[in-house]
Amino acid sequence: MTSKIDYQAPDGLLENRIILVTGAGDGIGRAAALAFARHGATVILLGRTIAKLEKVYDEIEANGGPQPAIFPLNFEGATLKDYHDMAETLDKEFGRLDGLLHNAGLLGRITPFEQYNPELWEQVMQVNINGPIWMTQALLPLLKYSADSSVVFTSSSVGRRGRAYWGAYAVSKFATEGFVEVLADELEHLGNIRVNSLNPGATRTQMRKTAYPGEDPSSLRTPEEIMPTYLWLMGPDSRGHNGEKFDAQPSGS
Ligand SMILES: NC(=O)c1ccc[n+]([C@@H]2O[C@H](COP(=O)([O-])OP(=O)(O)OC[C@H]3O[C@@H](n4cnc5c(N)ncnc54)[C@H](OP(=O)(O)O)[C@@H]3O)[C@@H](O)[C@H]2O)c1
Repeated sequence: MTSKIDYQAPDGLLENRIILVTGAGDGIGRAAALAFARHGATVILLGRTIAKLEKVYDEIEANGGPQPAIFPLNFEGATLKDYHDMAETLDKEFGRLDGLLHNAGLLGRITPFEQYNPELWEQVMQVNINGPIWMTQALLPLLKYSADSSVVFTSSSVGRRGRAYWGAYAVSKFATEGFVEVLADELEHLGNIRVNSLNPGATRTQMRKTAYPGEDPSSLRTPEEIMPTYLWLMGPDSRGHNGEKFDAQPSGS
């Protein structure tokens, strides 16, 4: 597992790139959307809470970034048709996609498997892996139109080594790692699309707070602090890296 935690992104790193970020309204996704825009990307903000996406939109505009776009979508209810309609809209609007950050995620419950609620399990699998997979399928033609596109799936330490009580969340992240290997291998011959997995590590967000309520948040890195690896993966410097696992923090915790 490699890392680019000290990467110094040049100002115009992502100029002329069109990048879609899922779960862009909060936490790590919000920080990634802002960082990508700050480095010149046109960012498509996807998420389920429109008010949060609008705030990020306004922030990007206030920072003088390229005009972003908002795409409301809830992975829980989204259908194949929604993904294909979305691809059609993006095709008309942008004609291609240079980056896709799968970041939206649901924790579910940390609980003994014996007590895991099957409906919640399905929900977590839907948001964390099934939805993103079918969205990727619909967006593949747009990624192929790009001269250099990067698809990043967000993993977790519990998607690389199982841990008691992490249930559907851990299983969805293992599936994510597996899917990255399959898709990366399948697209390798094209030469213009790379697919990698990224573990953010323990980061100061609402999800982390829910998972570890007793932890002191100030002991954790902020989403902004873990952006170097995100920028490196989205920019041209990561070209040639395909099917690899990355960590955004030294410990990969
Ligand atoms: N924070 C950590 O320590 C940590 C560690 C390892 C991995 N990760 C991974 O990093 C990613 C980001 O996590 P985070 O910590 O930033 O979590 P977060 O603050 O809870 O943000 C999660 C984002 O996903 C969105 N989302 C949740 N369910 C959705 C749905 N059904 N449809 C569309 N969007 C949905 C949320 O939207 P709303 O704002 O509308 O709820 C939010 O924008 C996740 O994949 C997570 O598994 C985080």
